[in-house]
Amino acid sequence: MKTTNLAEGFLRNSRSRVNISRLSLAAFLLVPGAFLWGKGHEPVAYRNTAPGVAFVGSKSCTAPGCHQELGRDYDHTPMGHSMAPANDPSEFARVPQTITVYNQKLHRYFQVVREGSDLYQTEYQLDASGNRVFTAVHKLEYVIGGPICGFTYVVRQGQYLFEAPLSYYGRAQQWDLSPGYEAAGDIAFSRLIQKGCLSCHNGQPEAVANRDGKYLDPPFRFMEYAISCECCHGPGQLHVEELRKHPKRKYGKGGRHDCEPGAAFAPPCR
Ligand code: HEC
Ligand code: HEC
Repeated sequence: MKTTNLAEGFLRNSRSRVNISRLSLAAFLLVPGAFLWGKGHEPVAYRNTAPGVAFVGSKSCTAPGCHQELGRDYDHTPMGHSMAPANDPSEFARVPQTITVYNQKLHRYFQVVREGSDLYQTEYQLDASGNRVFTAVHKLEYVIGGPICGFTYVVRQGQYLFEAPLSYYGRAQQWDLSPGYEAAGDIAFSRLIQKGCLSCHNGQPEAVANRDGKYLDPPFRFMEYAISCECCHGPGQLHVEELRKHPKRKYGKGGRHDCEPGAAFAPPCR
């Protein structure tokens, strides 16, 4: 099947990864695409949306001599920080000392603890005499979010990812149960992180098919945490190969990556 427009290209590109984010992105990019069609342009077929074209990772896109400056700027945007390792030193400011949250409805205690260079969350329950009924402790592996709404944390057990019970809420500047945790009554780190969730917040999650919450090891392609260049532009293999062979090659009119039929990678349409 020939790719006939950008939306289809994106849908095909996400052939095994159809999800809300890419659908909404396709809808977003379809608008200028439809505009071009309206003006009588040839439908654009992006070669990189064909099956088998490989992803190269943002580090390849932002290598010296390529889009290095753009990469540096992007790193400072909230999208460039949509996910990160939870043991980044900038994370520790939210845990100046052990944080304890008691939830009356669940009758459980939750804590965030810093130990050395890592953060942990603990969940436990006490019986009437103050003895622990159970305790679950997990190292926080990744953090999702930003300073405006807040941050939620991901723990890893084997190949499975789970949402930690406590999140940090940006506006209130305080820790509390992760959204929906109290209502669902999730116990001891049992809330799986679904692929759909990561698809909006992480560059390239490598989910195992038909296994909710299970990912390859490592769980993200190229270990890219934040939304990556190729999330929007599609796989970069052809673009990189062609520019290695022909470093002076220009795409589109005036060297801009506009919607040139047969372009090597899905560019933004104007
Ligand atoms: C369809 C895409 C999409 C899905 C699916 C999604 N999110 Fe989000 N999420 C967003 C966007 C966009 C924002 C930013 C909203 C804003 O700033 O107003 C956001 C905000 C957040 C924030 C606050 C971060 C901030 O920047 O302030 C957290 C934490 C979060 N999401 C966690 C999750 C988790 C956990 C899941 C899965 C259970 C999930 N999201 C599923 C798109 C998504
Ligand atoms: C959220 C989606 C998204 C992400 C992530 C993204 N881009 Fe883009 N990119 C776009 C859109 C949309 C435009 C068009 C902006 C415009 O036309 O003003 C664009 C424009 C560009 C352009 C300019 C094209 C031209 O016409 O000159 C380049 C180059 C580019 N992006 C490279 C990158 C690189 C490198 C990264 C990763 C560091 C990246 N993009 C990340 C969506 C994205």
